Amino acid sequence: MKKLIIINGPNLNLLGKREPAIYGSLSFTEFLAKIKEKYSSLDIDYYQSNVEGDLINKLHEVGFAYDGIILNAAAYTHTSIGIGDAISAIETPVVEVHISNTYSREEFRHQSYIAPNAKGVILGFGLQSYELAIQSFI
Ligand code: DQA
Repeated sequence: MKKLIIINGPNLNLLGKREPAIYGSLSFTEFLAKIKEKYSSLDIDYYQSNVEGDLINKLHEVGFAYDGIILNAAAYTHTSIGIGDAISAIETPVVEVHISNTYSREEFRHQSYIAPNAKGVILGFGLQSYELAIQSFI
């Protein structure tokens, strides 16, 4: 059974409540339950943190053991050299995901420290971006 993990960064614990016009009104817990049921042939773990170092620690922990990482580093995407370096340091491939199309938003969201080290990038499809990333590992 393939082992995948979805890692969400800061403020994504508020999905469903946070700016629903941009991020939708479904909570991640509800979405994850549906995804786990639909992809029951995969072992899909989930981790969320608002703390940069905790995200790096989790990448180190899973990055030599799992088959794939689906990472929405949220705002840290645009600022964190540390998370970018962590992705270079680990072996497990990382797919960068965003709910919104960051290129249609403010210019500071056009920069990604994740993308140069990611296997691929999927953005702008709402929560479906996560599902497309899962499919890329099947
Ligand atoms: C986001 C886009 C980021 O720019 C933003 O900081 C987020 C969410 C997205 O999924 O669309 O928190 O990563």
